[in-house]
Amino acid sequence: MNPFENRFAGKVAVVTGAASGIGYAIAKRLVQEGASVLAADLNTERLDAIQGELGERFFGVKANVTVENDIEEMVSAAVKQFGKLDLAFNVAGASRAGERHYGTIGERLGLHRGSVHERCLPEHEA
Ligand SMILES: NC(=O)c1ccc[n+]([C@@H]2O[C@H](COP(=O)([O-])OP(=O)(O)OC[C@H]3O[C@@H](n4cnc5c(N)ncnc54)[C@H](O)[C@@H]3O)[C@@H](O)[C@H]2O)c1
Repeated sequence: MNPFENRFAGKVAVVTGAASGIGYAIAKRLVQEGASVLAADLNTERLDAIQGELGERFFGVKANVTVENDIEEMVSAAVKQFGKLDLAFNVAGASRAGERHYGTIGERLGLHRGSVHERCLPEHEA
């Protein structure tokens, strides 16, 4: 039994990057602990599969976090589907496959910034 199963009961969260990895893990745990989750990702096939796994408190929408209009629609979809919005987890991003960096803190922050933020920007802005 999960002692935290009602910790987020009644809360509504948006999770971007929810079709995989960290975003999926956060979304799944939120649902298991009582929240409703508006899950946003580019990968609708995975979102559909996860919706089948987690049930009606997980609702997937296609959204590109680099597109402002998609963000607005994602928030509207959360309010339309679940009536409000309490929490937001912006996890969408891309890893640099095979790249591991064990340099200085500054170098490591630079790598993180590169993967989390710039990788979310359209090619011409990155
Ligand atoms: N996994 C780690 O140990 C780790 C450590 C530090 C930082 N990070 C960063 O955290 C982020 C998530 O990592 P992860 O391991 O969960 O990655 P992941 O590849 O498993 O999941 C990322 C998800 O984001 C989605 N996505 C990518 N671009 C998007 C966009 N523009 N709009 C909407 N969705 C988009 C993908 O479709 C995918 O489902 C990445 O930026 C990664 O670099 C990961």
